[in-house]
Amino acid sequence: MNIDSQILKALRNAGEASVSGVELSQKLGLTRAAIWARVSDLRSLGYEIEAQPHSGYRLVSAPDLLHADDLLSQLPRSQKIGRDIRVFQETTSTSDIVEKLARDGVDEGVVVFAEAQTKGRGRLGRKWVSPAGKGLWFSILLRPRIRLQEATQLTIASCVALRRAIQAETELPATIKWPNDILVRGKKVAGILTELRAELDRVAYAMVGIGVDVNLNANDFSTELKKTATSLKLESAGPVPRAQLAVRVLSELDADYARVRDGEFERVADEWEKHCATIGLEVTIRMADRQVRGRAESLAEDGSLLVRTEHGHLESVIGGDVTVEK
Ligand code: BTN
Repeated sequence: MNIDSQILKALRNAGEASVSGVELSQKLGLTRAAIWARVSDLRSLGYEIEAQPHSGYRLVSAPDLLHADDLLSQLPRSQKIGRDIRVFQETTSTSDIVEKLARDGVDEGVVVFAEAQTKGRGRLGRKWVSPAGKGLWFSILLRPRIRLQEATQLTIASCVALRRAIQAETELPATIKWPNDILVRGKKVAGILTELRAELDRVAYAMVGIGVDVNLNANDFSTELKKTATSLKLESAGPVPRAQLAVRVLSELDADYARVRDGEFERVADEWEKHCATIGLEVTIRMADRQVRGRAESLAEDGSLLVRTEHGHLESVIGGDVTVEK
């Protein structure tokens, strides 16, 4: 953990109390002047840090920005997802950066955030609108020891974790639309794009790209998108602190990824079914080469959706675009 993370961690741990400059300098092995210089830098980023000559430093508020050291300081060291966090002000797509890191042999768990993406991508070749400072746009590198057919488990586990985090932080009624959308009151607030590199039938690495529409305003969405998408801010009483949500999402993702690794996908699947708005509905699923129509019944062990067709067959569907038939 670097100096800024350690200072922020110490201030956060103290809560409403102050931490003395002497204590910080002893703990971090730095002079008091060096601590003061780091605190001044944090202040210039927007951290409101009160400094009193006798009592020391106190964190009054944090800005609504994504600061890698600050995010790191709020995650347990044992956590795999987020053990390395990188934040870019602007990039094409966070998944482009993760892909490069993967090819360079970086260990799993690295998370890349961007305040804005110029070429954010969604599923089925769609564009993902990613305006600056208004959402969580990030990608995670995973190197799971799973077979290619089981890769859907990663998306399902991410979906379950993301839903839980959103609901816990905002108290909004978040549900899942198969395979990878999070909805609030029937409109999409977040999506997941899992991209893979496979060797024979094993997954070499996976990039899980997550987009959460946190503080977007109505005019950030096109007229077309407005019909089906919304933001957490538009659905709540006010803006949602992005960094706090990011920390929660990474922790929940870590928990569910551990379940997949430990062969406990069944637990993830149970939670998924409980919160899935698609189960029990008549759906049409469009895939590249065909479409399946029927009743969404349940989730199979590999993460695919089991659909009972009008002819009574049970079809297993791995991915596609779902429309609910009214
Ligand atoms: C979807 O619902 O279509 C999936 C959207 C995934 C968007 C995220 S934003 C971060 C990451 N980088 C991208 O270019 N896409 C994903």
